[in-house]
Amino acid sequence: MKVAHDIATPGPLAEALDVSKIRADFPILKQKVHGKPLVYLDNGATSQKPQIVIDALNRYYSTENSNIHRGVHFLSERATAGYEAARQKIKSFVNARSEQEIIFVRGTTEAINLVAQSYGRTFLKKGDEIIVSAMEHHSNIVPWQMLCEQIGARLRVIPINHDGELVLDEYRRLLGEKTKLVSVTHVSNALGTIVPVKDIVRLAHERNVPVLLDGAQAVPHLKVDVQELACDFYAFSGHKLFGPTGVGILYGRSELLDAMPPYQGGGDMISLVTFEKTHYNVLPYKFEAGTPHIAGGIGLAAAIDYLAGLDWERVAAHEHDLLAYATSALSSIEGLRIIGTAREKVGVISFVFDHVHAHDVGTILDQEGVAVRAGHHCAMPVMQRFGVPATTRASFALYNTREEIDVLVRGIHRALKVFK
Ligand code: ALA
Repeated sequence: MKVAHDIATPGPLAEALDVSKIRADFPILKQKVHGKPLVYLDNGATSQKPQIVIDALNRYYSTENSNIHRGVHFLSERATAGYEAARQKIKSFVNARSEQEIIFVRGTTEAINLVAQSYGRTFLKKGDEIIVSAMEHHSNIVPWQMLCEQIGARLRVIPINHDGELVLDEYRRLLGEKTKLVSVTHVSNALGTIVPVKDIVRLAHERNVPVLLDGAQAVPHLKVDVQELACDFYAFSGHKLFGPTGVGILYGRSELLDAMPPYQGGGDMISLVTFEKTHYNVLPYKFEAGTPHIAGGIGLAAAIDYLAGLDWERVAAHEHDLLAYATSALSSIEGLRIIGTAREKVGVISFVFDHVHAHDVGTILDQEGVAVRAGHHCAMPVMQRFGVPATTRASFALYNTREEIDVLVRGIHRALKVFK
């Protein structure tokens, strides 16, 4: 998956991944749009779902649907067992120490808001500083700005260089007595950059500053081990990981989660309620108020099962090949400028033309059956950094092929003809 942006040679393992077999597992990929075979290159926005995930959702609603942690009846016990087994699976997937450290949330956005409001409002005060980077998604900017407004803290921003890499020396300079939290992305959604998060964590920990990593774009591509990363919080969404929408995970070190107050109040997050005082439930339930997305959790576990059945070295080699092939093919299109040329990247290519708007390219590509995202990618500061209003972004997943990239390239040529 990691690739130097000028490499265009497929590795020997690239042939070894049976991509047509993988594609057969994803029913949506078989369809045509506008009469053309679907070429789905918008995986950064959301990934498609394998049949095993669709079946898990279907089975849950057909045979298991019930509320969890409440009933004494057969179905409730079954749904509870399925949901908690999913938590266990996710714990192993990210190598957390305990399932108490795995909080089900709606997605990455909710996970970050949870930490900002629970940890931030409790442990930060006026004058404290929070460090983010210039390549964050809005979901890793706005919750911290809201917190800063609420408590009088200050947001500091690590700059990025022209390739879209973090400037680590600037990060070192920003870290200081006032720094109380660092929150950076693991992989940039707009640029594809893989951030050296181990260095980010190590430098923060030298000052006892906790670190949150936004893993939304990392988990579909990189093997994530939260103990090895040594981060304090790690957030990701199910839907980018071939699982359902509306479910995601906040991993947190139990010492921190224990010390934090609940984020939302309601059912399931309590152990005793009286009008005088409420006692909160133990981890992880303290952070899971109300009926959760039970089917979503079970579906996410099915997605993890699916990924566990694949040879990840081969998947990595295949994705590496796709990025290298696409980088080379797109670079040869006259006038096309790639935004995001970091040495370490996942399969994301953002590009612009001086005289054709990103949305126009996206619209023509759509007519060719090619799905890409065009816009600011919920990362307006990245657009500002590169002086562009928007980019067109192709983002790859394990089921994409070189042939699809050829269709993308032909579509771009067509867009250039139309808008000449
Ligand atoms: N964050 C998602 C993206 O990058 C929606 O497209």
